[in-house]
Amino acid sequence: MTDTLDSTLASLYPEHLSILQQRAAEALQRAELDHLVVPAGVLRYQYFDDRDYPFAVNPQFKAWLPVTQAPGSWLVITPGSKPRLIFMQPHDYWHTVPSDPTGYWPSEFEISIIRTPDEALKLLPSNPARCAILGEDNAALGPFVPNNPPAVLDYLEFHRHAKTAYEIAMMREATRIGVIGHRAAEQAFRDGLSEFDIHLAYCAATRQDANDLPYCNIIGLNEHAAVLHYMTRDRQAPTQTRSFLIDAGASYQGYASDITRTYSTQQDEFQALIDAVDRVQLDLCAQVLPGTDYRDIHMNTHTALSQVLRDFDLIRCSPEAALSSRISNAFFPHGVGHPIGLQVHDVAGFHASDRGGRIDRPEGQPYLRMTRTLVENSVVTIEPGLYFIDMLLDELRPTPANSDVNWDRVAAFKPFGGIRIEDNVVATRNGAVNLTREAFAAD
Ligand code: GLY
Ligand code: MN
Ligand code: MN
Repeated sequence: MTDTLDSTLASLYPEHLSILQQRAAEALQRAELDHLVVPAGVLRYQYFDDRDYPFAVNPQFKAWLPVTQAPGSWLVITPGSKPRLIFMQPHDYWHTVPSDPTGYWPSEFEISIIRTPDEALKLLPSNPARCAILGEDNAALGPFVPNNPPAVLDYLEFHRHAKTAYEIAMMREATRIGVIGHRAAEQAFRDGLSEFDIHLAYCAATRQDANDLPYCNIIGLNEHAAVLHYMTRDRQAPTQTRSFLIDAGASYQGYASDITRTYSTQQDEFQALIDAVDRVQLDLCAQVLPGTDYRDIHMNTHTALSQVLRDFDLIRCSPEAALSSRISNAFFPHGVGHPIGLQVHDVAGFHASDRGGRIDRPEGQPYLRMTRTLVENSVVTIEPGLYFIDMLLDELRPTPANSDVNWDRVAAFKPFGGIRIEDNVVATRNGAVNLTREAFAAD
C-alpha cells in the first residue's frame, strides 16, 4: 500500500464506519434486537482429508474492517457503543497467525485477543437471544448459532449496494492492480504464450494467485473464448493464436475488481468486431446513472449487439426481430453484469426494498444478475459479449430464426471464439465513473 492510498483510506474510514453503524442500528431496531454479532468464519476441511480450503471470510465481517484472514474472530456491534473485535490469534506454530491489528482502523475498535475459539464465549453478549448473528452454520459457537434474521439481512444487504467513498477507493485499487495484470497478460498473448503461461504472467504482475484473486482467471485463446467460464488453461500454446479473451480481476483488502478484455492478433475483421462491441460497451457504461433501471441497460445491450450482428452481416433481421426470435440470446447468452464490491457477484441485485421483496428478471433473460434501479454509488459491471457457441447456435437451426442467420459468416468468426469487454462502473450524480477505463488510461 502506498502512503497516499493509506492516507486516503485513513481519511475515509471513519465515515464508512459511521455509515455501517447507522445501518446496523436501524437493522437491529427493525428486528427488535440489541446486538449485531458477526463471526469471521472458520476453516473448512476437504472430505476424508485434513486439508483445509483457502479461508473465505464472511463478507458481513470484512464489510467492517480490512481484515480477511481471521478464522475464529468475531465482531460485536451494539448501537451506542464502540464496535468490539474479538480477534483470534491462536498459539500455533504450524500456520501463520493473523498479524497484530495495525493501521488506520484498530483505534476505532475495542479489541480483545483470544487464543482459542471457546474464549470468544465469555466476550460475546450475555444473552444470545438478543443478537442478530450473521454467518454460516459451521461458525456456531455454543449458544451463538447464526440466525440470520431476514429483517436485518434485507436491510444491510440492500444498503450495501451503494458503496461508501472508502469502498470505492478500495475498488479503485483492486482495479489498478487488475489492470497491471491485464497489461502483462496482453503482452504474454502477443508473445505467443500458452493459456497457462499467460495466467502465470498475470499472477506475477499482480502479485496475486489463486488464494488472493477474487475469482478463477478466465484465459481463453481462439475457440476457448466461446466458453463463458473457461478455466482449463492449456499448457501448450496453439499452433496458431488468433484471439484472446481474458476475464481476470484482483482483490484489495477484501474488495474485488472484475475486468474482461478481448484481443485479436491481427488488424482483421475480428478486431473490427471487437471495436464495435467496445463502442457498444462504452455507450452502455454511460448509462450507469442513479435512477436507471439496470434491466433497461440489459435490454439495450441486446438491441445494440443485434445491430452489430447485422452490421457485420452475421444476421439479416432487424434488432427488434433478433430480440423477439431470441437470436440475440444465442449470441449474447448472459446478463450485462452484476453488482460488485465485497463479492465479485455482490449481494442484493434483486432486492425490491430494504424490507425484502424481489424484482424479477425480464422474461426470457434467465442469467441477468441484477434487476434493481441504480442509486448514487451503485457499483456494477458492464460486460456485453458476442460469442460463437455451437450448442446455442444449433438450437436456432430448427426454428424460423435459422433463415435470419448468415451461417457462412458465423463459420468465418467461429475460430475466434467470442468477445467480452467488462468494466466496473460507479453511478454518480455527475455521471458514470468508469474505474476500469481510468486505470487503463493511467500509466
Ligand atoms: N468474472 C465473472 C463475471 O464476469 O461475472
Ligand atoms: Mn462480471
Ligand atoms: Mn468477469
